[in-house]
Order: sequence, then structure tokens, then C-alpha cells
Amino acid sequence: MANCYRSMTPNDHAMIAARAPIATGTLVALIGPAGSGKTQFTHGVPSHEVICLDALRAMVSGDPGDQDATAEAVRLQNILIDARLTRSQTLYLDSTNVEVAVRARLVERARRQERPLLAIVFTTPLDICLRRNSERPTNRRVPPDVLR
Ligand SMILES: Nc1ncnc2c1ncn2[C@@H]1O[C@H](COP(=O)(O)OP(=O)(O)OP(=O)(O)O)[C@@H](O)[C@H]1O
Ligand SMILES: [Mg+2]
Repeated sequence: MANCYRSMTPNDHAMIAARAPIATGTLVALIGPAGSGKTQFTHGVPSHEVICLDALRAMVSGDPGDQDATAEAVRLQNILIDARLTRSQTLYLDSTNVEVAVRARLVERARRQERPLLAIVFTTPLDICLRRNSERPTNRRVPPDVLR
């Protein structure tokens, strides 16, 4: 995983793209805890380039926060990643990706398809993530300890 950016507003995407163009066919992994602004960031990206794990959970079970749907949502996510990388299509992965093992699997997946991988790390302060988390509907809230 390479280049780290601090980025919290959708408009930042245009600035980042202007400063450091992202090569076509890159797997862009967003990394950050709940409430750090990953989904907000993707609003500056063409929607077909975004694979959002919450959206896949919602497609599986009707509830984006349904953790029981995660395994199936991840399977769908992996199919979509491979489908796009095989065609050298850029994709943004909107999931937390904070666990080393999860990131290692992404590195492996990008390598297998010989595609570049870029990490965008959201360094939003903990107190802001906690506040945003507490303001969410109950089914979209994570236990505060998960954020610490
Ligand atoms: N730069 C910002 N300024 C103000 N509000 C923001 C900003 N970025 C995100 N938010 C708000 O913070 C909340 C959480 O942001 P967002 O949904 O993008 O987080 P997330 O990282 O995708 O979280 P999760 O991993 O739970 O999906 C949203 O209500 C969003 O509108
Ligand atoms: Mg999100």
C-alpha cells in the first residue's frame, strides 16, 4: 500500500486527482474507521467505480449495517473487484479495511491481476468519528470501543 492522503471532503477528490492522477485500473482501497468520511469521499467519484460494502450488505439482507450479511457481501465484493481489475477498470473500495489481514488479501488480489493498488487513509480524529457514530441511526452505529 502506498500514498497516504488526509482527505475528508468530497471536493478533495478533485484536488487529489489533479495532484496525483490515479492510473486507470488501480484498486483504490479507502482505509478508515466508521465515520471517518470514506463514503462522503466517494461522492466525488463516478458511482460505477465505487464498491461499497455497506451497499452490498443492503443488497443481501436489506440492511447496510447487518453484520450477519458481511461474509456474503464480501464474496460479492471480491467478484466485483476481480471483474473490474480484469478489465483494467479503476475501482474504489469503500469499506473500513483497517485490519491487516483484510488489506493483505487486497494486495494479493491486485497482484494476481497485476494491477496497481493505492491506499487512501482517513486520519479523521477519533472524537469526530465518535460524534458522527453517535449521531447515526441505531442500525448504522458501531460500538464506540470498535473506534478506539
Ligand atoms: N468532511 C466532512 N465534513 C462534514 N461532515 C462529514 C465530512 N465527511 C463525512 N461527514 C459526515 O460524517 C458522517 C460519516 O461519514 P461517512 O458516512 O462518509 O463515513 P464512513 O467512513 O463511510 O463510515 P462507515 O465506515 O461507517 O461507512 C456522514 O454523516 C457524513 O455526512
Ligand atoms: Mg461508509
